[in-house]
Amino acid sequence: MEKRIAIIRGDGIGPEIMAQAQIVLDAVCEKFGHHFIYEEAPMGGNAVDAFGVPLPQSSLDTCLSCDAALLSAIGGPKWDSIEPSIRPEKGLLALRGGMGLYANLRPAQLFSQLADACPLRTDIAEKGIDFVVVRELIGGAYFGEHKTWTQENGETAASDLMIYREHEIRRILKVGFETAMKRRKKLCSVDKANVLDSSKLWRKLAKEIAAEYPEVELSHMYVDNCAMQLVRDPSQFDVIVTENLFGDILSDEASQITGSIGMLPSSSQGEGTRGLYEPIHGSAPDIAGKDLANPIGMILAAAMMLRYSLDMPAEADAIESAVSKVLESGLRTGDIMAPGMTQVGCKAMGQAIAEAI
Ligand code: IPM
Ligand code: MG
Repeated sequence: MEKRIAIIRGDGIGPEIMAQAQIVLDAVCEKFGHHFIYEEAPMGGNAVDAFGVPLPQSSLDTCLSCDAALLSAIGGPKWDSIEPSIRPEKGLLALRGGMGLYANLRPAQLFSQLADACPLRTDIAEKGIDFVVVRELIGGAYFGEHKTWTQENGETAASDLMIYREHEIRRILKVGFETAMKRRKKLCSVDKANVLDSSKLWRKLAKEIAAEYPEVELSHMYVDNCAMQLVRDPSQFDVIVTENLFGDILSDEASQITGSIGMLPSSSQGEGTRGLYEPIHGSAPDIAGKDLANPIGMILAAAMMLRYSLDMPAEADAIESAVSKVLESGLRTGDIMAPGMTQVGCKAMGQAIAEAI
């Protein structure tokens, strides 16, 4: 099959890990007889340097014309003090908005081979960690009106409007319920309904939609409590569905408790099958260009892309089992290194996974 994939190489370790994902995808092509056409779509700090904007229109057009988009990570200290409207992060937000990607799925799972890397107490970790955060991605405070102004008394004030319309809440809640249906059928809707109006509306709609999914056990949790429960007993969670800002924070916490942030992929979806796939971790500028990065999160993001956007489940399985095999064989990048294992760089890890396909 021929498929077109938009490649967003990003900043920091981005280009290095993307190169390894492409080597693995090439191995998949060879094994299964596919042909992938890669279209470059610059975005982030590198795009600011080359084009003066973090997301050139041509990159958005490329992403919209491809079957799926693969993204590494963007941003870095180099662009921390530039004009806020062209920060690299703005490119990512514009891409999510422009592609209509309202649902972000971030799985958090403990890899059996890396159980020792889990920072939680053994009696907590032993109960297992395997849940998904379904984060609303193009609404709330991120996309409401941002304002900074001078008040009459001369003092500066700033505000960010956290706004949710009913249809925005309904569609993400549905993704939450559908995701739960494919898993252990437990959905925890996370909000701050004791304070925020947008959360009150969220909770009301969650209760309403629950009637369409009688098999799903729905619970509600305040976001502060959820942050606490994630470290107290993460085994209680199957699917968490929440708004944009809460999801940003909780998904970082979720990835950290697995002890393997470098291993986790995520997907962003809208209507239709075209999605954006990326590792959960950032661009790690401190180790960029040193062949130290862990490419596994990026490679598993490519597997997720095959499964969800390109309808290639066997090919996705092939990547996931190649990753397992390589971990079983004892290869580790520095971030997941443990006694008795063999430490390798980014390239050697990618190569080993490609060979295991
Ligand atoms: C993420 C990141 C982004 C976000 C930043 C880079 C804008 O933290 O994908 O979680 O907050 O959504
Ligand atoms: Mg984040």
